[in-house]
Amino acid sequence: MYAYEPSMKDVFRMAKTIREVLVAYDRAAPLYGLMNQVYFFGRDKRFRSMVAEKLNLKPGDAVLDLCCGTALDFPFLLQKIKTQGTLLGVDLSSEMLKQAKKEIGSKGVHLVRSDAAHLAFRDKTFDAILISFCLKITPAYEKTIEEAARVLKPAGRIGVLGNHKPSGPLRLPGIILTKALSAIAKIDFETNLKEQLSKEFIIIEDRKMYGA
Ligand SMILES: C[S@@+](CC[C@H](N)C(=O)[O-])C[C@H]1O[C@@H](n2cnc3c(N)ncnc32)[C@H](O)[C@@H]1O
Repeated sequence: MYAYEPSMKDVFRMAKTIREVLVAYDRAAPLYGLMNQVYFFGRDKRFRSMVAEKLNLKPGDAVLDLCCGTALDFPFLLQKIKTQGTLLGVDLSSEMLKQAKKEIGSKGVHLVRSDAAHLAFRDKTFDAILISFCLKITPAYEKTIEEAARVLKPAGRIGVLGNHKPSGPLRLPGIILTKALSAIAKIDFETNLKEQLSKEFIIIEDRKMYGA
């Protein structure tokens, strides 16, 4: 188990940056859907559907969408777990959750406002967890991964989507985009998710796709 012991200096730095994340996403919430469309040209649906597929979900499963934002992953998860399943969306930003609530309407999804690094769920609660486009944003990503491992059932699956630095012909415009996104969306492209995830989980597949 990865030992997470922040120093007092780290705690103050984290407190500041998590506030920045919260303010950024509270502000962005009404436009998040549009921003997502512009950034991915609608191609994110492919990644979201693919990762939901890899979770091996069955009707009736309990799924946690950690840092769920405005619920863009929900349709893909609900399609798999059907009405007998339980879907729980957690996010830090009440404004993002407000948008999520509008999206889900009367569908039976539970939304919880919480810091992903401090979850109030019992150990081994969920059959699967999805974390899309958050671990490179949230300051305490190591602790978030540890919490995900704690609340996931043994043999449960976790799916993680995260932005990577553009390469190839997109490298030059990519540098500008990367800098802009780091400032606006608080993405830290240097975060090594694979290394951190492999401390808690067996990595079954690691794929690079356009933008994610
Ligand atoms: C880029 S958005 C991604 C939202 C959604 N998962 C998606 O794929 O569209 C990042 C989300 O992570 C949330 N977030 C960041 N740090 C968090 C934390 N520590 N706990 C819970 N949510 C967090 C933000 O509020 C925001 O909604």
